[in-house]
Formats: sequence, C-alpha cells, structure tokens
Amino acid sequence: MLTSVAQAVYVAAAILFILSLAGLSKQETARRGNVAGMVGMALALVATIALALQRSERSVAVTGSLILVVLLVGSTVGTWQARRVEMTQMPELIAVLHSFVGLAAVLVGYNSFLTEPADPAHLVEVFLGVLIGAVTFTGSIVAYLKLSTRIRSAPLMLPGRNVLNLAMLLASAGLLVWFLSTASVLPLLLMTVVALALGWHLVASIGGGDMPVVVSMLNSYSGWAAAAAGFMLSNDLLIVTGALVGSSGAILSYLMCTAMNRSFISVILGGYGAEGGTVVASDVDLGEYHEVKAPEVAELLADARTVVITPGYGMAVAKAQYPVAELVAKLRARGVDVRFGVHPVAGRLPGHMNVLLAEAKVPYDIVLEMDEINGDLAETDVVLVIGANDTVNPAALDDPSSPIAGMPVLEVWKAARVVVFKRSMATGYAGVQNPLFFRDNTSMLFGDAKDQVERIMLGL
Ligand code: TAP
Repeated sequence: MLTSVAQAVYVAAAILFILSLAGLSKQETARRGNVAGMVGMALALVATIALALQRSERSVAVTGSLILVVLLVGSTVGTWQARRVEMTQMPELIAVLHSFVGLAAVLVGYNSFLTEPADPAHLVEVFLGVLIGAVTFTGSIVAYLKLSTRIRSAPLMLPGRNVLNLAMLLASAGLLVWFLSTASVLPLLLMTVVALALGWHLVASIGGGDMPVVVSMLNSYSGWAAAAAGFMLSNDLLIVTGALVGSSGAILSYLMCTAMNRSFISVILGGYGAEGGTVVASDVDLGEYHEVKAPEVAELLADARTVVITPGYGMAVAKAQYPVAELVAKLRARGVDVRFGVHPVAGRLPGHMNVLLAEAKVPYDIVLEMDEINGDLAETDVVLVIGANDTVNPAALDDPSSPIAGMPVLEVWKAARVVVFKRSMATGYAGVQNPLFFRDNTSMLFGDAKDQVERIMLGL
C-alpha cells in the first residue's frame, strides 16, 4: 500500500519538477517555478523517508533518528550557507553543491556494490555511477577554486593534454572489462582514481572565458550522476530528476556555447583544440585613456536622447542596480529613451544581470538581449558600461590572438559616447586588457559604480 502511494507521490513530484523548469524559463513565472520545485522536493523527501522507514531492517525509531540527524545537519548547513552567500558568489556555491552530488553518486556506487548481488547489469550501473560521480566531484571542486579565485582561472596547458584525456577514458574502459569479469573491488578503486584525475584535468584545462559553460556542464554531469544513483537505488524519481537536470544542463551549455561562439565539443573535452600561448593584450601599449567625473556624465546624460546601459559583474559587486534603476526612472521621466543591453554571459551566472535588474524593479520591456540591441548602438547617443569589461571588449572581434577571440560582444564603441564605470584599469574575468577604454569616444569614470551613479543623480 505504502509503496504504491509513494510511487503516486513520486509521479506528482516529477510533474512539479517539470512545471518548475517551465516556470523558471521566464522571468515573470520564475517565482511560481521555484515554488513548484520546492513543493515537489518536499513531497519527494516525505515519500522517500516513508519508504526508507518501511524497508529498513532496523526499528523505525533507529532509522528515523538517523534520518533526522542527517536532515538536521544538512538543512542547518544549507540554510546558513544560502543566507550568507552574496549574489556574486552564487556560481561558487552552485559548483560546491555539484561536487556533493558527484560525491554522493560515488558513495552510493560503493555502497551498492558492497551490498547488492553482483549481476552484470548492476555492475555496469555501479561503474558508470562512480565514474560520472568522481569526474563531477573533482571537476566541480576545480570550478569552485577558479570561480572563487583561489586558483588562477587561466587554462592548464599540459603537453599532450588531449591524449591524456583519451588515455584516461581508454583506461576506464579497460577497467570496466576487468571489473565485469572479476566483480572485484580493485578495478573499481583504480577507475575511481583515474576518474578523479580526469575531472580535475578536464576543468583545469578550460580557461576563464569558458567558465560559464563549465558551470552549466557540471550541472549537467551532476544530473547524470544523480540519475546513475537512481538506477543503483532503484529510485524512479531520482532517475527522472537526474535526467531532467542532466538534459537541461546540457541544453544550457549548448546555448551558452552558441552565444559565445565556442564549439560545444571542444569545451566538454577540456578545451580540445584551444590554442596555447595566446598573447595577453595587457602587454601591448594601447595608448592614453580619458577620465571624466560624475557631474560631466550628468551633463552628457541631460543632453542625450538615447541611452543604453550595459551592466556587468561590477554592477553586481557594487550592488549598483538600485541607484541604476532610479537613474533610469529619472531619465525616462525627462523623455530620454533608456534601454539595457544584456550580454548572455555578463556577470558570473546565466541570467545574473536580469535577476539584479528585476530585483531593482526595472521594467522587463526595456531589458534587451545582446542580439536585440547591437544593431541600435550606432544610433545611440550615450552608452553607460556599468562594471562590464570582457562583454564589451572589441578585441574579441578584432584580435584573433585574444583569449576571448570569436566571442560575440556588445558593440558599444559604435555609439557616439561611451562612459565606462570601474574602479581602476584592471582587467575583467578573462584577464585581458580592453582596447575600448583607450578609444577616443570612451571616457573612464573611476570609482565604485554605486557611488558614481548616485553622484550623477545629484547633478541631474
Ligand atoms: P568582467 O569582465 O568580469 O569585468 C567586471 C569589471 O567590473 C571589472 O573589470 C572590474 O574592474 C569592475 N568592477 C568590479 N567591482 C566594481 C565596483 N564595485 N564598481 C565598479 N566596477 C567594478 O565582467 P563582464 O563584462 O560581466 O563579463 C563576465 C565575465 O565573466 C566573462 O569573461 C564571462 O565569460 C565570465 N563568466 C561568466 C559567467 C556567467 S554564466 N555569466 C560565469 C563564469 C565566468 P575594476 O576592478 O577596475 O573595478
């Protein structure tokens, strides 16, 4: 009886997860999507715990207490971390969470190997679950270290790195044959070591500019790791949920690769085909830059008819979205046509800028995608680049040796005047200097973006 009720609850939870994904695809329905996901997850937990209590060989009290303890520890740490994390650290948190999914798949794999009968289908499930889990685990740790700048984001260019990846995959295939023929733990252990090294190497080989794709790719891997755990635990909901996460992560990675003009295959193969030894443009003399102060920018805006704002990671750091929204309201009230141009990888996570602007109640209809705004920039009087750098770098189009060469960018330099808000001449995430700052129609407004926007408003 309980089993069939739990199965029915699982179906309801799976439908809620699908509704959640559908809701999250649009800003207007994202909140509803989140609620559907939370309700689905609560139902799934209740059904899973009820089944675990029923199937346990120990007394309900012992199993119940064990589950309660881990739930308490998990939810306390989770709530504490989620409340503490800054919006700008969200990708790091996501990377850490992916590493937990990978580790869980490895542990479930070993547990399942030690406790279940060793039929070939089960051994393949265990092997694949541990393989995907271990790759996800170390890959996510490297992504976390890169995103939190604890290690350099530049790609690790080991000689023969593609051969190395291939050798590790072939070694894993050989170990699978050994594992299937002997059902002993040694090949499983050896493969775990190889897969941990492979995950580490795959992500370490991918450079700064491609990190957005890596985060969504690890999201996808964590989904497949969860699905593999679902097969081992014979849990249908985990299989469905894992497949949903795995495929939506893969679709997102593909879309981001298209947006950044990168080959999907080359990114998932750890930067396969990426050229080594690119010239970092910061070593090249780019000439002089011009500086402006906030009152001059206020005058510039007062005379403008059309203004485009291109926000980036610096707007998130400065929490400048609130004064920016006020500035926009003020300019619109004066009849200035103000719009936003959002690059697909601006900030540090997909949709980062859209979330910040929605938070500050900027109307959705003036927030345009890069492709929608690029054609209008040549007819724009003033572009305000607020804390963006790589996403407005002309070197991506002009300089084939640049690490971000080929990435489509917001072509802000085509506007009559460009004002760049940042604190110094430091480079952006990809670590390359930006020739935009040295153009004749560009002026640098140094300082914290929030302070500077507030100062501009004083002059309007
Ligand atoms: P970035 O190229 O990262 O540049 C941000 C700029 O903001 C920096 O140059 C910094 O200059 C400035 N800044 C920082 N704090 C500031 C503050 N308080 N006030 C004013 N300016 C401040 O930004 P972007 O154009 O948004 O590009 C995003 C980059 O991140 C891309 O390379 C992308 O590939 C990568 N990335 C994106 C994602 C996703 S999914 N979106 C994930 C991982 C990586 P100063 O230090 O001089 O102030």
